[in-house]
Amino acid sequence: MNDLSALDSLPDDFLWGAATAAYQIEGAADADGRAPSIWDTFSHTPGKVAGGDTGDTACDHYRRWPEDIAVMQQLGLGAYRFSLAWPRIVPHADGLVNPAGLDFYDRLVDALLAAGITPFPTLYHWDLPQAQQDRGGWPVRETAERFAEYTAVVAARLGDRVTHWATLNEPLCSAWIGHLDGAMAPGLTDLTAAVRASYHLHLAHGLAVRVLRETVPGARIGIVNNLSPITPASDSEADRAAAVRADGHINRWWLDPVLGRGYPKDMLEVYGVDLPVRDGDLDLIGAPLDWLGLNYYFRQIVTADPAGPAPHFRQVPGPNPEHTAMPWEVHAPGLEELLLRLTREYGVERIYVTENGAAYQDTVAPDGTVHDPERTAYLDRHLAACARAVAQGAPLAGYFAWSLLDNFEWAYGYDKRFGLVHVDYATQRRTVKSSGRRYAELIAAHRAR
Ligand code: IFM
Repeated sequence: MNDLSALDSLPDDFLWGAATAAYQIEGAADADGRAPSIWDTFSHTPGKVAGGDTGDTACDHYRRWPEDIAVMQQLGLGAYRFSLAWPRIVPHADGLVNPAGLDFYDRLVDALLAAGITPFPTLYHWDLPQAQQDRGGWPVRETAERFAEYTAVVAARLGDRVTHWATLNEPLCSAWIGHLDGAMAPGLTDLTAAVRASYHLHLAHGLAVRVLRETVPGARIGIVNNLSPITPASDSEADRAAAVRADGHINRWWLDPVLGRGYPKDMLEVYGVDLPVRDGDLDLIGAPLDWLGLNYYFRQIVTADPAGPAPHFRQVPGPNPEHTAMPWEVHAPGLEELLLRLTREYGVERIYVTENGAAYQDTVAPDGTVHDPERTAYLDRHLAACARAVAQGAPLAGYFAWSLLDNFEWAYGYDKRFGLVHVDYATQRRTVKSSGRRYAELIAAHRAR
């Protein structure tokens, strides 16, 4: 994308942002009354995270946030998506509020607003207090109820200044990767626990929406899902059926209930696990939202896997050789496809791309610069895909690059760098990469047009 005309269709008030999450950047794991989360437990369990990395220090954002806000200003960001750490705010099972934890986010929000940056907090980005896990975690209803109480605490404190709220980030990962694949905290491999966890995550979302509506007049509330376009690996009946199951498992299970359509019947049969539904739950879960967040990273090409666990499909490599360091296929048209699907099939009226980005093996040149042409091209191509979707009617209101900073990439540790800004973990020095400079240039040009 050499000129900016490819982005012409983006609306004038398009929100340009970047995203992070608490456990991935904050560090200060035991500062000021924070208690452990399931990710502290998981990352400190030998063999769970590459290189034995933990979020103990991460980007030390808990102490360096003024510098990080200055970097956001340098990039020209209009919004910053971050997550609130439940284990800082209500650290223990007794439900008592930790004032120092709330104070941190209070200062952050004030400073963002003073810098002209809209705060876009997410209430839950995977760091369940370990104390709640010890009482059963997401497979039990109590966790959703405690989440509503934590939401009430946060809304009462920040609701006078924060308008945009996301309830959950990628509940698919919490439920399926955390409870079925076991590759994320809490590391279970149990289908019944995973399906129950998914249900209570949705219930937590619904309860939080109700609390926010009651507490924050004019709140603009959404949920953030990671979705993938699904393609069958072949034209065989078995692969086409596997693709329908994969779509159910990855997309429909996460969209239908929160958009008021209930749970997909075919998937209820595939899982064969009763949902612990009580009267009124489905209305809460499906209550109207103001926007939907889409996190897009890759499409999935799938084949039937009858011998594997339910839902009996597996991903296979496609013909496209272009991959990031994860290694995930680079396929920008998938973003356009998903935006159009949300628009046409689900009738979503306001969408944000709440995450999109790529990990590459960045190196710091002798002159101290970080040149990342692959990430720059990735950004250009995905933004062009957004603009194509908008030109075809998608109500896309903003884009958040993942991520502002290199950070703790969960089970992959610090080796996978997604940032527009490089972090030298030994010195905590921040360096804007060439992709970050490109993003700043696009933002400035869009504003100036
Ligand atoms: O780093 C994660 C983030 O926490 C959630 N979405 C995907 C990102 C890249 O894997």
